[in-house]
Amino acid sequence: MAATRALVLHGPNLNLLGTREPDVYGRVTLSEVNRLVRAHGRRRGVTVEARQSNVEGQLIDWLHGAERQGFLGVVLNPGAFTHYSLALRDAVASIRVPVVEVHLSNVHAREKFRRHSVVAAVARGQIAGFGAVSYVLGLDALLALTRGPARPPAARPPRRR
Ligand code: DQA
Repeated sequence: MAATRALVLHGPNLNLLGTREPDVYGRVTLSEVNRLVRAHGRRRGVTVEARQSNVEGQLIDWLHGAERQGFLGVVLNPGAFTHYSLALRDAVASIRVPVVEVHLSNVHAREKFRRHSVVAAVARGQIAGFGAVSYVLGLDALLALTRGPARPPAARPPRRR
């Protein structure tokens, strides 16, 4: 049976959402982000498990275990590891389940060092700049990759008089 679980991974410093640089990241907390993406998952028939770590090796271990643990794919916000962690990049390249890279902020409109992602080339795609909604879009992207795009509800036949 196809996996109906998706893994959301948050990298370093994202545990501080809500109080961390609110001008950049807003006031939404990590629990609120997780609640939003879990609720969206329920609507799309997928159970979302969210984990956060400040430790590079922990994120790598979670990526390695994603398929074995029955996740259909991973929505990954690598935080600052995005910009330099070749180990994280290699982990994403090494696994078979799709990984969608997400960012709360529009990294392309920020400091020069944030405009380059070492992960992007091995992720299936990148979504950035929509705050917590980036994760919702990331989950939809993952589901589109694994199940095909969401279809609008079938049009009802016209009612006969
Ligand atoms: C971030 C962007 C990164 O540059 C930064 O280091 C983060 C958060 C984002 O979600 O916008 O920690 O990944």
